[in-house]
Amino acid sequence: MTFNPLEEKGIPVEKQLRSWQKIVQRPFDKHSVDCYSRTRQILMNGIEVEAWNFKHNFARNCADPEVKKLIALSRRIEDMQQTTVNWMTPACQTVLETTLGYEQVAVDLTAWLAQNEPDDYVKETFNFGLLEDFDHLYRYSQWAYMMDGILPDNILQGMTDVVISRPTQNHHNDNSIRLRTHYDRTTASPQTKVNIYTLVSGEQQTHNFYAEHGMMYANDDLRRTYGEICDVEEEHVTMYESLIDPEETPFEKLLLHEFTEVCTYYNCYKDEVDDQLKQIWEEFLAFELGHLQVAADLLKKHEKRDPEEIIGTKIVLPCHFETQKEYVTNILENEIDKRLDGGTGYTTIDKLPDNWASYDAQEIVNGDGAYTEQTIRLIKSSLGTDIVTADNKLHKKQPELLKRGLEEKAQAPNTVSVEEYEEMGKVKIEASL
Ligand SMILES: [Fe+2]
Ligand SMILES: [Fe+2]
Ligand SMILES: [Fe+2]
Ligand SMILES: [Fe+2]
Repeated sequence: MTFNPLEEKGIPVEKQLRSWQKIVQRPFDKHSVDCYSRTRQILMNGIEVEAWNFKHNFARNCADPEVKKLIALSRRIEDMQQTTVNWMTPACQTVLETTLGYEQVAVDLTAWLAQNEPDDYVKETFNFGLLEDFDHLYRYSQWAYMMDGILPDNILQGMTDVVISRPTQNHHNDNSIRLRTHYDRTTASPQTKVNIYTLVSGEQQTHNFYAEHGMMYANDDLRRTYGEICDVEEEHVTMYESLIDPEETPFEKLLLHEFTEVCTYYNCYKDEVDDQLKQIWEEFLAFELGHLQVAADLLKKHEKRDPEEIIGTKIVLPCHFETQKEYVTNILENEIDKRLDGGTGYTTIDKLPDNWASYDAQEIVNGDGAYTEQTIRLIKSSLGTDIVTADNKLHKKQPELLKRGLEEKAQAPNTVSVEEYEEMGKVKIEASL
């Protein structure tokens, strides 16, 4: 099914207030929920946080009382939607379990977006970020075992591999070289815009989740691991948001936000296997169609522009979740040594100049050790090896991947070496795992 969202009325904003009982619903069962229901729930929370936050910024920069009133009405609804979606998380789902869910979103969503991205430069940027979140998943998986005694597949359900990727200690850049070249708002396709708006929301929420929850563990090594990865998510938000044309007007941005919400809810509704979540996605899709009408009217009234020029006439599918193991393995094997070139492009480790700006940043932040390396040292001392869930062929490649993916310069003093990975590869994990 495909439809033109601008032709749908949805539910009018005035009819979107709900009772507290409907706003806060029964959480899902963490033991039986489908992993991709959980990723949808995590992503849609991020989408709502961004919608709410954007509307506050819009209002703070808007002098027109009529516009402010309209924005205030739907902004409150965004906030209530956020509560409904995020609070589907059961209280017994630990911070680390949720964290594995966040990185599964990042890996499988970014892989989907990259394969459905018409702009090659944007696609390359997605693939670049993908390998970094893939490594975060590997690091956090060690902690999920050490703190909660769970294996990655308790959460990932065999859909996403866990294996070393571009090492996190190398994700710390001079933040200014993360900035990319933005698309041209007059020529970029609606798909490109929605893809980027979706990913920015997801990455921003990942950052916020780590920033707000990393301190909930008492273990200093884990707190610092969260601190380290939280900072990479800040780099990811910087990188992906810089792809957006800053010349988009506030009304244009409002329309794009609502359109992104329509597309993501539609995609969730279409794919959902959980009855309760499916009902939420269906209702919220109708809400967003109502918001889209308001945004389209504002654009027509204040800028005399046709909304179809910006979002086209069709829905796009920005968040279909399915296993992406094959795609991710291919990027991993071909792009692990890729780096930001200091301008707005990409290069490889062997071509980095000695004065590459990110070496300075890495020397400082990793100067007393990288906690994402410490993570592997700890699991090695406890189990003799690391936790990996990938087929044997990929598992055996870890030392080679590390050799190609790790910068020689500015290494953290506690870096786990290629030889140590070779040693770990020989250890058989007990059957009880
Ligand atoms: Fe919303
Ligand atoms: Fe990540
Ligand atoms: Fe990320
Ligand atoms: Fe909305």
